[in-house]
Amino acid sequence: MRAVIRSIAPALPSRGGKFLGEKFAFALAFFVLLAMPGTADDLGDGKRGAALFAKCKGCHQVGKGAENGVGPHLNELFGRRAGSVAGFKYSKAFQRAGSKGLEWHADTLGTFIANPRSLVPGTRMSFRGYDDPIDQADLLAYLRTFSVSPADIPEADPTARGIDHDVDPAILAIAGDPEYGAYLSSECTTCHQAEDSDAGIPSIVLWPEEVFVIAMHAYKDNARAHPVMNMIAGRLGDEEIAALAAYFATLEH
Ligand code: HEC
Ligand code: HEC
Repeated sequence: MRAVIRSIAPALPSRGGKFLGEKFAFALAFFVLLAMPGTADDLGDGKRGAALFAKCKGCHQVGKGAENGVGPHLNELFGRRAGSVAGFKYSKAFQRAGSKGLEWHADTLGTFIANPRSLVPGTRMSFRGYDDPIDQADLLAYLRTFSVSPADIPEADPTARGIDHDVDPAILAIAGDPEYGAYLSSECTTCHQAEDSDAGIPSIVLWPEEVFVIAMHAYKDNARAHPVMNMIAGRLGDEEIAALAAYFATLEH
């Protein structure tokens, strides 16, 4: 992966002339990433990212015992809603962006790191930063190491993986019974927090029902590999999955 970026990059116009070449290299890298299951290292060079993080350190902590400073801590960043770290007082602009649904993924983080105000006008983060896609990829690879769960890697996003598994339309048509779903859900909430949370295990509330059903069947059919979820989904029938989808889709925050 890294080798692909590096072997292409030197052949392209350099930093000054930049855009086309680097954007292309990045797009290509991204494409390969989507097509291929990967490890955290695939996104970029985390070691280089650690050095780039020096510019963020004055305001942000990461790692064990990280606390909020001028900016919020950046652990468990991937998949987390913008402006959602407890105990950090965000700007109004940020609270608004979060409640409108802004989430941190490779694409939104890239835009934000390049120019925070282009993504969240009015944010207090005054840093104007890394617009080189390779820098961004390296920095994100570093930040990703402060995630607990494999679901934090972009290719595990529900939209990236859930909807490409074939599920019989008859199964998708089943109308789930949310009350039955509530009854079944206690097995799930021992790991998945009932509310939308960033505790490391992916949030499964407020998903579109269809995406939820497809994700569960992908585990059930072993199209998506995760031993625990494969076992759990394997025990559930179609009606039960539909019921859980209906229940979790409507849970209030
Ligand atoms: C001068 C201080 C400062 C620097 C330097 C800085 N930030 Fe920030 N950052 C903030 C503040 C303050 C916020 C909260 C913004 C708000 O409430 O509007 C923030 C928010 C963020 C968020 C959103 C977090 C969340 O919980 O939603 C991310 C991601 C982020 N910064 C990444 C970075 C990265 C990566 C760097 C280095 C390239 C960096 N920041 C450099 C002050 C800074
Ligand atoms: C023992 C802990 C555990 C239990 C119990 C559990 N899950 Fe999970 N679940 C996980 C983990 C870990 C993942 C991330 C797996 C991965 O990366 O593919 C996950 C992933 C998922 C996903 C996909 C999330 C995403 O972001 O793509 C769904 C949907 C899901 N679980 C639903 C359920 C339901 C419904 C139940 C109850 C019937 C349940 N889980 C019970 C640990 C658990």
